[in-house]
Amino acid sequence: SVEKISNILIDPENYIGKVGTVAGWARTTRAAGKDLFFIELNDGTCQKGIQIVVSSGTIENYDTVVKINTATSVKVTGLFVKPEGGSEKVEVKIGSAEHKVEILGAIDPALSKTYPMAKKFHTVEKLREIAHLRPRSNLIGCVARIRNNLAYATHIYFQSNGFQYIHTPLITASDCEGAGEMFQVTTTLPKPEESLLKVKDKVLDKEGRIDYSKDFFKKPAFLTVSGQLSVENYCCALSNVYTFGPTFRAEVSHTTRHLAEFWMIEPELAFADVHDVMDCAEGYVKFCLEYVLTNNKSDLEFLQNALKKPELVEYLKGLISGPFARLSYTDAITLLQKAVANGKVFENKVEWGEELATEHERFLAEVVFKKPVAVYNYPKGFKAFYMRLNEDGKTVAAFDMLAPQVGELIGGSQREERLDVLEKRMIESGLNPADYWWYLDLRRYGTVPHGGFGLGFERLCMLCSGVDNVRDVIPFPRTHGNAEF
Ligand code: 4AD
Ligand code: MG
Repeated sequence: SVEKISNILIDPENYIGKVGTVAGWARTTRAAGKDLFFIELNDGTCQKGIQIVVSSGTIENYDTVVKINTATSVKVTGLFVKPEGGSEKVEVKIGSAEHKVEILGAIDPALSKTYPMAKKFHTVEKLREIAHLRPRSNLIGCVARIRNNLAYATHIYFQSNGFQYIHTPLITASDCEGAGEMFQVTTTLPKPEESLLKVKDKVLDKEGRIDYSKDFFKKPAFLTVSGQLSVENYCCALSNVYTFGPTFRAEVSHTTRHLAEFWMIEPELAFADVHDVMDCAEGYVKFCLEYVLTNNKSDLEFLQNALKKPELVEYLKGLISGPFARLSYTDAITLLQKAVANGKVFENKVEWGEELATEHERFLAEVVFKKPVAVYNYPKGFKAFYMRLNEDGKTVAAFDMLAPQVGELIGGSQREERLDVLEKRMIESGLNPADYWWYLDLRRYGTVPHGGFGLGFERLCMLCSGVDNVRDVIPFPRTHGNAEF
């Protein structure tokens, strides 16, 4: 009765007394005398590996097995037993002729000395240089499993709350945020003389290539910075919707929070105001926290030790036990000004009408509230054209959710549903309303109050894992100056 146990995560204790098969990579190996050989095997399905104990004289290839070194991939069939001593709950014993240790991928002994992922402490900086191998580290393995569950939790949350998943385009002609940080799309199509394409009437660039950046799409095209404008179109037809995909920003900033390619979750709610949108954002983030606390227990335990954050799990539990904080921008300014009056020193001035600097946001989330805080009703001056103008004519119904250690986790707003006000705001923001005729049509044909938000998925991963650098929560980070791997 040989059972293939492909997923060590599914409590291996359940297999005690049975013969089963596991396959994975040797993390470490060691011999104890001439007759015993130990392999610490891990298959990446969970943080923990399993110990394989091989006795000499029981299998034919014992002499080869004792040469197994770190990173060798092996498939083992043996008896699951409760170890006599030690802290482990289960190990696999190779002690009879029906048992097997099969070497699937051996390593040249010379190479094994320089194997970059040898079991030892690796700094996160070093791991980034070997991003192709770093998923074999405990840290990145834990983060990858948490990231997977956060993606899954995202779909569970929105699907079970009646939102439809919409796939919005990655190539677009519009700059949703108006920040001028877009990557332009061009092609690698051959030069006209080498191609069979008819080039008559085509626009050529200086080198005589077809300028496909304009010609392919008939207008300049870019990688999207946000799926919002597209998802709004579906919201104004299907009611509550969301999109979840990669977004791109030519961010030249070298911070621990900015990527050039990141994933964003963007729900859009129909017949909703900014408070409904903030409720949705809070409910979603809490659901994600709870999901990870329930389904990534051993990953979180590992991370709280590895990151030297002994309070991590308790802190995350605390976040879901009560409401997040919420206050208006105007109240936030008053609060910050009071702090200044009491001796708090900021580098950036605190003044109504000015943007909140990172240090102000951190002060609110980390010092004042010590939990995520949504700041709403910002002055319109530094906010995007699509945000709904409030009755005061000075502020817009926009909010940012700021989280300790993470900074801005979410940006969202109620959208301007009044055609005339929207057109005016576009012109004020330097946009040509004619370019957005399709967006404005939503306001012409049965406009409704609606709104949504964008949550930076990597920042959510940071919040839920305790990891402090955005480069370590995405498999292959793309940042200014780095698109390796
Ligand atoms: O605040 P942002 O720019 O909002 C929008 O794009 C809206 N159109 C979203 C919407 O309402 N549908 O970006 C949303 C979030 C930020 O709060 C942040 O978490 C994340 O996206 N983000 C980044 N994450 C990593 N690297 C970057 N360069 C990021 N820029 C924004
Ligand atoms: Mg923002």
